Amino acid sequence: MERTLSIIKPDGVSRGLIGEVIRRFEANKIKIVAMKMIYMTKAQAQGFYAVHKERPFFGSVTDFMSSGPSVVMVLEGENVIAKNRELMGATDFRKAAEGTIRRDFATDIEKNVVHGSDAPETAAFEISYFFNRLEITG
Ligand code: CMP
Repeated sequence: MERTLSIIKPDGVSRGLIGEVIRRFEANKIKIVAMKMIYMTKAQAQGFYAVHKERPFFGSVTDFMSSGPSVVMVLEGENVIAKNRELMGATDFRKAAEGTIRRDFATDIEKNVVHGSDAPETAAFEISYFFNRLEITG
């Protein structure tokens, strides 16, 4: 059994896509074991994306992630890290497969609706960044 962190980013929340993203998780038998809405500060977004701090998009993505509320979730299931990444599609929506969340809804490489951890180590860091043990059920 694996866990991963999912974020419905500020563009997904403001465009009314919370329900649609959750519907896709549930339709694919992914269990949500923790969930909350947060409004990240710039510093919190910088901490979350610290691995990208040398990248040219770091300033912009941390501005975007602190521009409005996001929904953060812990997903649980067998191979859920890969399964979630499959449902999301490639970071660049123009390269994402048909029927994926980003292909269907993203408008930009940055405004790509959702985030998902890419490996067990990043999942552990990202889950603990937003949730303590008491907030995770199951
Ligand atoms: P995410 O999967 O959350 O990881 C880093 C985020 O930075 C990415 O989704 C995008 O929202 C944003 N981003 C902006 N430009 C780029 C880029 N050129 N490559 C990767 N990520 C980018």
